[in-house]
Amino acid sequence: MIHFRKKILAAGLASAMMLSLGACGTSGDTDETQSQTAGQAAEGETAASGDGKILIAYFTAAENSGVDAVSSASYSMVNGEAVGRLQAIAEMIQENTGGDLFSIRTSVVYPADGRELIDYAAEEQDENARPELTSQIENLDQFDTIFVGYPNWWADMPMVMYSFFEEYDFSGKTIIPFNVHNGSRFSGTIETIQELEPDAEVVEDGFTINERDVPDAAGDVADWIEEIGYPCIWASTGT
Ligand SMILES: Cc1cc2nc3c(=O)[nH]c(=O)nc-3n(C[C@H](O)[C@H](O)[C@H](O)COP(=O)(O)O)c2cc1C
Repeated sequence: MIHFRKKILAAGLASAMMLSLGACGTSGDTDETQSQTAGQAAEGETAASGDGKILIAYFTAAENSGVDAVSSASYSMVNGEAVGRLQAIAEMIQENTGGDLFSIRTSVVYPADGRELIDYAAEEQDENARPELTSQIENLDQFDTIFVGYPNWWADMPMVMYSFFEEYDFSGKTIIPFNVHNGSRFSGTIETIQELEPDAEVVEDGFTINERDVPDAAGDVADWIEEIGYPCIWASTGT
């Protein structure tokens, strides 16, 4: 009988470890593959630090401008590769948390030219526009924690982020903001997110970085993930 119980306990521990590793492994999942890697969190469960499945959603103009990253005004060179700045930070967060990446896409084709983009974004803001979303989070229920990244545009989030927060109800989940800026840091966007998602816990200690520091941000991102208590098992054990 004791032997039998031990066996059950061992099996339980093994599956708990697999779940834990699954939630933490750097799977390289993208928005296309999320639905095949459904996690185990039941609907309504709230996030326990580092225990639940993590989504890393981000918007970068570089992936929404109809040109390759290197032709966009919104890229940085990271490890010799041209990537959108928010994508670069999102990937660093993924390396440290093992979360799934999700690129927020819109039918709007943003100007690749920096000056044109500045004017275009100002118009969108004046019109209080809601750009149409063309990428969808599948099985939102499986995620307890949503890292959400966006650039600072005109001391606010890009309007597509309003489309995003109006599309999804993150009640009971933890939202962790991160952004890239050119001096204004978050402006008032963390408060705005809390207003848009009143029943989510919005972490105020988000990660914010100047655009010129993005290529060298890996260490700061890792430190921040540690501070807020989300390092995955690979990152914390070095395995
Ligand atoms: C339309 C637009 C408006 C911006 N407004 C601000 C601003 O108000 N404050 C600030 O610090 N940076 C501002 N920036 C700089 C961006 O936050 C920064 O370049 C960021 O890296 C853009 O992210 P992305 O490269 O992924 O698009 C603005 C950039 C753009 C394109």
